[in-house]
Amino acid sequence: MFAMSLGDGAELRPLEPWRAEELLSHMERGREFVGQHIKLADAVTDVDSARRWLQSYADKAAADAGGVYGIWLDGLLVGGVLFRVFDAVTGNCEIGCWLEPAAAGRGLVTRAARVLIDWALHERGMHRVEWRASSANTPSINVAKRLGMSRDGVLRESGVHRGVRQDIEIWSVLASEWDGPSPTRADLGAGHGR
Ligand SMILES: CC(C)(COP(=O)(O)OP(=O)(O)OC[C@H]1O[C@@H](n2cnc3c(N)ncnc32)[C@H](O)[C@@H]1OP(=O)(O)O)[C@@H](O)C(=O)NCCC(=O)NCCS
Repeated sequence: MFAMSLGDGAELRPLEPWRAEELLSHMERGREFVGQHIKLADAVTDVDSARRWLQSYADKAAADAGGVYGIWLDGLLVGGVLFRVFDAVTGNCEIGCWLEPAAAGRGLVTRAARVLIDWALHERGMHRVEWRASSANTPSINVAKRLGMSRDGVLRESGVHRGVRQDIEIWSVLASEWDGPSPTRADLGAGHGR
């Protein structure tokens, strides 16, 4: 089991199905905040649904098609980052993220997303990392900006969240544009079933 330090008492680790109860407790603390913009809060409502959601990402990881990583702050699960899409054939992937409110405003997601981007672009030779967010989700768009991503455009009213149509912004960074540190880490691969 690896744990990568993100600094300031925070760690990034694979978020695996056996952690369903921990995920549920975290979601109970953050449900209202997380649910404003993403479906995760509505998908994780009890231990069984938490385990099913984690298992869906374990299955993606086994197929080299995605993966989810938790962020722990002083030993408490407070959020995560994930490869919602990972297509090694085309070299395209998409990262997502969430935090409970007490962990926001510390740069944790920006730091964790950098680890995933480094791994995808440097370790796995991916070409493009995408970030999708509702136009109304200013904190998420600010993370994309902080990561140095470019705004590709907007899919007008393409999303539906809790019955309301959303404009979805697409941001991205290409391998040729990424100047993050070159990692020597094969450790995220553990979460990808390698
Ligand atoms: C999107 C979300 C994860 C952003 O959280 P966040 O805390 O703003 O993002 P980060 O963890 O990267 O922290 C950045 C903030 O910490 C501050 N910060 C403090 N120390 C920092 C550091 N070392 N590095 C970077 N930022 C730092 C930044 O200034 C910024 O605060 P500001 O926006 O007030 O300027 C959060 O709003 C969330 O979980 N929302 C609900 C779920 C969701 O919408 N997910 C995204 C789906 S697209």
